[in-house]
Amino acid sequence: MEEIKRIGVLTSGGDAPGMNAAIRAVVRAGIHYGLEVYGIRRGYQGMIEGDIIPLDSPAVSGTIQKGGTILQTARCKEFMSYEGRKKAYDCLVSFGINAVIVIGGDGSFTGASIMSKEFDIPFIGIPGTIDNDLYGTDYTIGYDTAVNTVVEAVDKIRDTASSHGRIFFVEVMGKEAGYVALRSGIACGAEGILVPEEKGQVEKLKVYLDTRGRLKKSSIILVAEGEDYGGAIGIAKIFKEQFPEFDIRTTILGHIQRGGSPSAFDRVTASRMGVAAIEALLDDQKSIMIGMVNNEMVHVPLNKTVKLHKDIDHKLLALTEVLI
Ligand code: F6P
Repeated sequence: MEEIKRIGVLTSGGDAPGMNAAIRAVVRAGIHYGLEVYGIRRGYQGMIEGDIIPLDSPAVSGTIQKGGTILQTARCKEFMSYEGRKKAYDCLVSFGINAVIVIGGDGSFTGASIMSKEFDIPFIGIPGTIDNDLYGTDYTIGYDTAVNTVVEAVDKIRDTASSHGRIFFVEVMGKEAGYVALRSGIACGAEGILVPEEKGQVEKLKVYLDTRGRLKKSSIILVAEGEDYGGAIGIAKIFKEQFPEFDIRTTILGHIQRGGSPSAFDRVTASRMGVAAIEALLDDQKSIMIGMVNNEMVHVPLNKTVKLHKDIDHKLLALTEVLI
């Protein structure tokens, strides 16, 4: 493999709190190991258009606590074509970049895995998405912060729900996965957590609300956006028809879950993964994701992270019935 001297780093797909901490760690570790680091702005779109800037240590100073991404991001359709990737590769060559670190989710890793093989260039993935839906890692950067943002919001909703004796269906992000709903649901003592990975929950919830639920001052039901019944609004409609006597409201939390200053956990995880990504490149790793399993940094083949599915913790989900 060509000796790695100059690397590119980019953020791609949905932004996630902690991406800046990862960029900072990549830059600082790169410099520490004698490499040059270039920032590729706006993800693969910037790689195609040559929107690439050198990054020195001061460039990432004062960024670890910032949400979003200083390199900006985009979802780039053109990169899904061979022609788009060829343009991107020619740009990398013109900047003398011979390895790339991609901070993003499954869509971004799909592109990285294909391009790495097509042009024989090392790509290292750092899992950055609030959805935590990537195979091969217990945590993705941004997940912990997003869960804390949901808990903070739901605690506020609990105040008004209890004051009015209401039932709230609160919709949270997560794409097709229920990780955000599950962890934040347990953390805020939700009376119900509806996720795409578990069937038959709506019937169970009807029985609960029709019996024990009537004795509670309020009920909060967390609904993952990927859930089958069309999210919080679809679910609430079903319950309003079945229980016209209940005072039901819905809240869709939306993009507040994507922003905000990253939690200490996300900052530390992102910093560890950033350094591990540089060390993996220097260890001749070619097409892998840096994962964290049982608090250890691991290497996972990129194509596995996009092909294999990470199931939800059904035992944790079952806790809801014990805790309500
Ligand atoms: O992947 C992160 C995520 O926030 C998902 O949870 C959500 O479904 C999607 O991105 C929203 O995408 P956009 O920001 O393009 O509306």
